Amino acid sequence: MINTDFSINSFKGGYDDNFQYILTCLRSRAQIAVDAALPLETVEPILNSPLAAMLITHTHGDHITFIDEYLEAYPKLLIIIHEQSAGRISAVNVHPTHDGEQIQIGELNIHVLHTPGHFPDSSCYTLENIVFTGDTLFVGRTGRTVSQGSDTGQLYHSVYEKLLTLPQDTVIYPGHDYGQSPTISIAKNIDISPLLQAENEKDFIKRMAAFEASR
Ligand SMILES: [Fe+2]
Repeated sequence: MINTDFSINSFKGGYDDNFQYILTCLRSRAQIAVDAALPLETVEPILNSPLAAMLITHTHGDHITFIDEYLEAYPKLLIIIHEQSAGRISAVNVHPTHDGEQIQIGELNIHVLHTPGHFPDSSCYTLENIVFTGDTLFVGRTGRTVSQGSDTGQLYHSVYEKLLTLPQDTVIYPGHDYGQSPTISIAKNIDISPLLQAENEKDFIKRMAAFEASR
């Protein structure tokens, strides 16, 4: 499927092969950052006007490292973040989100999925046939559940009920470059990922325990 309404620029770097994305609405020219994992100067060459908004996938430090730089440069930047962490961000414009919400930026309609498990405030954002998955879903596996606030049972429900049920040609844009390719469709990801082939929650928890033991 060829999209003519938006483009995505991907940048890699930050703490641990983080991905930083700039989403551009090609009709309104509004631009949206996904996370603040890389310095503003890295993405600045492709910015054509003040950045309109930033989608926060979760508040682990490596995903918001450079948020103050962005806010200093664009004081009116709209920070879109799950409601339980909105109070942690000191910005003029904060939009606290909840599961199922639709947000319009420029002419783009972004759908919010609250996907706790890797971290309580994890959110994924879908737009037509793509989804920004943060650390909830990577190419080849799910996010880990070893940080404070992680919950493997919750991750199962988030991944299996909200992400793997998206149209199978949906392409994921994850928070880190941990897989065999930067992006992948949901269908292909299930094919290559034992953690996405669990029969039920109990089986998933068992598979995650084995995965973590192997790290
Ligand atoms: Fe994380």
